[in-house]
Amino acid sequence: MKTPEQLKQAVNTRRTFAIISHPDAGKTTITEQMLLFGGVVREAGTVKAKKSGNFAKSDWMEIEKKRGISVTSSVMQFDYQGKRINILDTPGHEDFSEDTYRTLMAVDSAVMVIDGAKGIEPQTKKLFQICKMRGIPIFTFINKFDRDAREPLDLMAELEDVLGIQSYAMNWPIGMGRGLVGLYDRFNKRVALAHPTDDSQPYIPLDADGQIPADNPLREDSIWQDTLDEVDLLDEAGNDFDESKIASGQLTPVFFGSALTNFGVQTFLETYLNYAPAPSAHKTENDETVEPLSADFSGFVFKIQANMNPNHRDRIAFVRICSGEFDRGMDVTLERTGKSMRLSNSTQFMADSRETVETAVAGDIIGLYDTGNFQIGDSIYTGKQDIKFEKLPQFTPELFVRVMAKNVMKQKSFHKGIDQLVQEGAVQLYSTYSTGDYILGAVGQLQFEVFQFRMLNEYNSEVVMEPLGHKVARWINPDQLDEHMSSSRNILVKDRAGAPLFLFENQFAENWFKSKYPDVELMSKL
Ligand code: G4P
Repeated sequence: MKTPEQLKQAVNTRRTFAIISHPDAGKTTITEQMLLFGGVVREAGTVKAKKSGNFAKSDWMEIEKKRGISVTSSVMQFDYQGKRINILDTPGHEDFSEDTYRTLMAVDSAVMVIDGAKGIEPQTKKLFQICKMRGIPIFTFINKFDRDAREPLDLMAELEDVLGIQSYAMNWPIGMGRGLVGLYDRFNKRVALAHPTDDSQPYIPLDADGQIPADNPLREDSIWQDTLDEVDLLDEAGNDFDESKIASGQLTPVFFGSALTNFGVQTFLETYLNYAPAPSAHKTENDETVEPLSADFSGFVFKIQANMNPNHRDRIAFVRICSGEFDRGMDVTLERTGKSMRLSNSTQFMADSRETVETAVAGDIIGLYDTGNFQIGDSIYTGKQDIKFEKLPQFTPELFVRVMAKNVMKQKSFHKGIDQLVQEGAVQLYSTYSTGDYILGAVGQLQFEVFQFRMLNEYNSEVVMEPLGHKVARWINPDQLDEHMSSSRNILVKDRAGAPLFLFENQFAENWFKSKYPDVELMSKL
């Protein structure tokens, strides 16, 4: 066990964050560059390599290889400049946003990657809103400046107009695309050269007025004058660098660069590590806070993933440690059941490998091998005080299918697969009141496809899915339920906890129901 001072030191080195972006903005590329700095991978695989099979370390699922998208989140841990970094990867595709939202509950800050040519795209906007809601610091990397991009001033304005966050440009591109000369680093008072003639001198220091030395040929270049004009404009009309606003998520430091050519990434990472917060307090359901340096251990399960390694059909519960220290073999209380359990089978994630973790502290993510004890959102803790962390966000599904096993003789693997994938939160499961048929609910179609694929590949169960299309899901109080309320315009089902809900054909059907049963309250969430 660590002394309080050792615990404090360890927790203060932790930086736990997620990268949020729209697909294709460059999240995988920048993650790889960071892993490279951390020395955990030796070669940055480009996405081209990823497509040819040497895919990014975080994309381990077969389906991801096939589709080239990140379906589930994973965790990568590495050390850099005295900090221990936990990057939580998130699926980019919007159909998996629920998974991403849960992951964002487990981080202390976020890195937002934006494609410089495209600006803010829909998925970035959605994920940003979650981070904003949590009030966590957000650091922005505007990528792909090795190609023609939009005007930097435009991009900055877009951050403020579309996302409503103040921004501070930490650096400023000198040209762009083929004409990218370098980055004017306002923060470190230097110019980083895109193509240094002498590799050992990639930076030119700036004088107190922000000028490069008079003998530098760039000084006479019109592109340099343009840059100085823009930087002047930022100095005069832009926001000030304000650490407290960064900490509360009101202001985002913005870095321009190119992940692919590894230009600007290292400065970004180093500055980020300086200003990103160490683990902070977490709220409980009854509005109390749990401090990371508390002597008692606590954490919550934000993700469950079955079959991460096809060679060992295992299931892992990912736990964000919120306070204290984890020691392998320790006994904790599982809040939902009130039962004590021993945590002896634990793992941590070092980029491409997993190894048994003996100790970990607040801020870290550990994986617990799970035999079905855990559910998403579970809190675990030591000590006498009951701890139940805030609920994780849940989406109300909008798309539904009826599902059955193709081969009726293979019910066992069908049920096992459904059970496990539902516990992971991959899809939602309902059963009809009338016949007990299984109905799956999802936010997006791709979730069903992944479900079908995984049922076959991981559980050897071929499933048939009959699309039911879009429905409006509304829960009702069981005391008000009369099965006769079900009609041809809705399906009466139970959720996994046995709570009744109607799946209405459309808004009209819901309104019709409301006018027929004005006293029955319909709820979009439980
Ligand atoms: P994602 O994880 O956010 O989805 O993005 P990813 O890193 O996979 O990058 C998407 C594409 O953008 C990749 O091209 C990648 O090489 C490219 N890319 C990433 N960062 C940069 C950058 O800084 N500059 C440029 N020019 N490209 C960048 P791809 O899928 O291989 O497509 P293609 O280039 O082969 O057509």
